[in-house]
Amino acid sequence: MRGLILSGGKGTRLRPLTYTNAKQLIPVANKPVLFRVIEAIRDAGITDIGIVIGDTGEQVRSAVIESGLYDALNIQFIEQEAPLGLAHAVKISRDFLGDERFVMFLGDNVIQGGISPLIRDFDNHPEWNCQIVLKAVQDARQYGVAKLAPNGQVEYLVEKPAEPPSNLALVGIYMFDHHIFTAIDNIQPSARGELEITHAIQWLIDNGYVVHSHEHKGWWIDTGKAPDMLEANSHVLDELNHVILGTVDERSQVDSRVTIEEGAQIINSVIRGPAIIGKNTRIVNSYVGPYTSIYHHCTIEDTELERCVVLEHSSIRRIPYRLQDSLIGRHVDMDIADRRPLSNKLTLGDYSKVRLLDLKVIIE
Ligand code: G1P
Repeated sequence: MRGLILSGGKGTRLRPLTYTNAKQLIPVANKPVLFRVIEAIRDAGITDIGIVIGDTGEQVRSAVIESGLYDALNIQFIEQEAPLGLAHAVKISRDFLGDERFVMFLGDNVIQGGISPLIRDFDNHPEWNCQIVLKAVQDARQYGVAKLAPNGQVEYLVEKPAEPPSNLALVGIYMFDHHIFTAIDNIQPSARGELEITHAIQWLIDNGYVVHSHEHKGWWIDTGKAPDMLEANSHVLDELNHVILGTVDERSQVDSRVTIEEGAQIINSVIRGPAIIGKNTRIVNSYVGPYTSIYHHCTIEDTELERCVVLEHSSIRRIPYRLQDSLIGRHVDMDIADRRPLSNKLTLGDYSKVRLLDLKVIIE
């Protein structure tokens, strides 16, 4: 079997973080989502992997090449000249895929438990032409949605319906045999101008091919959509096998469910897990609470943080109240204002969101 990862797209929903970075490279629990996807495919025993890249292709390519995964696997990059849809991405990957069965995985999706059991099931059922993965969600309108017959068979699929026929969303993980190419050749672009994989799968159903569905019971996060990267981060932190590679001084307290990456230093601080502190980051006189990921080369000094994600090269110092539920980008510099005028001084990127404490409320 082969693996096909889609890593194009603009990531508009994750602005401002995606102004400077591909959405698939935003770290969840200190590892880019795309690397988690590559590892999930590798862990299912697949070594031939194609990565479809778009506008952010150069960034994705160099990150993957530097990650170590590139040397361990047989990875090929496939350029998609415009974001013309998931089915279009499959179509242009025909040479790479040949006639082999393959798994297609959207590079911003993460599911609990990986995909090994799904790949095994698909392997054991050569009569299945396609396997889709479904997950019950609260609001299915922003996804592909499946309607199942009472016997569990897929009756039909519909892409982003205004009135969903069920609460079963299509997870961004699909398994196909070569019939999908015929299906794609027979569909037309949708209203949003894309060749939809949902329509191609519907073509398979309409033409008598076997489309099996699996309902996933664990968590699933489409990080490209989730306004809440913090939640994705919490789920993954909960499942990490934690290790301490950096240094912790004798005045610090570090829980068992904490990862301290190489070169990180914890000085006179308390770290409550699950949490991860990235390479060469320094935590000094601070409190880092549960569900926090601090990426590489950061400095946290005289500050309390809880359920936060901080990206690389950021510095947070002397903040007099706890920062919570915050997503902080790269090269951010936060410090107390100790010169007059004593006011909040902010340099925020487009689409930033800030909630400042109302000091009157605190004093009352
Ligand atoms: C795509 C698919 C949709 C699926 C979703 C899963 O949506 O078109 O059917 O439910 O991925 O992540 P898009 O990310 O293009 O909005």
